[in-house]
Amino acid sequence: MPTLHVSPGRIQGRLQPPGDKSISHRAVLLGALAEGRTVARNFLRAQDTERTVACVQALGVAVEADGDTVRVYGRREWRAPERVLDAGNSGTTIRLLCGLLSGQPLEAVLDGDSSLRRRPMDRVAIPLRRMGAEVEAREGRFPPVRVRGARLQGVRHELPVASAQVKSAILLAGLYADGATAVVEPAASRDHTERLLRAMGVDVRVRPLAGGAVAVEVTGPAQPAPVEVAVPGDFSSAAFFVAAAAAQPGAELVVEHVGLNPTRTGLLEVLREMGACVEVEDLREVAGEPVGTLVVRGRRLRGVEVAGQRVPRLIDEVPALVVAAAVAEGHTVVRDAGELRVKESDRIRSVVRALRAVGVEAEELPDGLVVRGGRLPGGAVESEGDHRIAMAFAVAGLLSEGGVAVEGAECAAVSFPEFDRWLRTLAKG
Ligand code: S3P
Repeated sequence: MPTLHVSPGRIQGRLQPPGDKSISHRAVLLGALAEGRTVARNFLRAQDTERTVACVQALGVAVEADGDTVRVYGRREWRAPERVLDAGNSGTTIRLLCGLLSGQPLEAVLDGDSSLRRRPMDRVAIPLRRMGAEVEAREGRFPPVRVRGARLQGVRHELPVASAQVKSAILLAGLYADGATAVVEPAASRDHTERLLRAMGVDVRVRPLAGGAVAVEVTGPAQPAPVEVAVPGDFSSAAFFVAAAAAQPGAELVVEHVGLNPTRTGLLEVLREMGACVEVEDLREVAGEPVGTLVVRGRRLRGVEVAGQRVPRLIDEVPALVVAAAVAEGHTVVRDAGELRVKESDRIRSVVRALRAVGVEAEELPDGLVVRGGRLPGGAVESEGDHRIAMAFAVAGLLSEGGVAVEGAECAAVSFPEFDRWLRTLAKG
């Protein structure tokens, strides 16, 4: 595995982040079901989204890629795949496809890499079975997952923990079902599926409930219409540079054309509470998603407590946040983030281990972690095959005293193949 060596350096310049991963997956998956041609521009060409493309192709859907423009020729009925569908490292691919396959007149087996094979699928299998599909998972829980589609019935399903992937799987199955399908979440998770479905002409109803819970509902059968999607830049990919720049006195970073969907930007609120100077300019809506420019000016930050309903809105940004917290003054505490244990790695463990490896004091909590900020001496970190650990600790190198070596950094290609190039462009020695 190649090792990425990152020396201390000041962050300065303009970043154009790659297309949003969540929206790119959805453009292909929903486009695959919409009869006719769906076009996604600024599509993320990365390992995860290529898995989604390969899976829908194996289901008989034609997809053409021309640079970062992808055309999907959707069809209402898919073809039974000849092989196991390989979702690779991608939780979004496997979970959303489970939902979509539940209403198709065929049987398919979905599998993934060693990381995906450790991630829970019962959270989608249980509601999809309630709707009428046959869904079996290894040990009742893990990939491979076998889905046999059936005639579906709408259900109302309450999620114990907010999850956009589970919510989306159920809503997508709801497109085929008879009657209403409602998903209740204890806090709002990212709503890209809802926004794209609306752009494709499907009626999606959202109701706020007591205590910050939300109910999202579709009525089936409903057929999405093809659409042209302009995919915004990925906030989660930009977040590594945003968090590091915000925490580095003297840094100046502009992030252009980045997605600013409020269900994704919890990190900005937290950085501001830490004392960061982050401004949003030119906020506009593109294809149903908020997009804008971020201007970040580095400062010395102070520690913060993060918990509760904002956690789903920054769940993928915790690795970036802890790096900023490492050089901030005082302690940072993250709680209510037990979901991190079932991401591409157990991110509570892997983040704490990586912080210690670079000389930062940190400890695990059952549902979060504590970082004792102040100094970031540097050292060698193992990515554990997790793209977000690799990228977070690569930018930690810029903030460090003696540099950081990230072993296994090639996994950044899961979501951000050009990460290394941007790191070199934005780091001034
Ligand atoms: C995603 C949802 C999130 C996030 C993941 C991508 C999506 O997971 O962590 O990286 O595209 O729907 P949850 O399902 O836990 O919300």
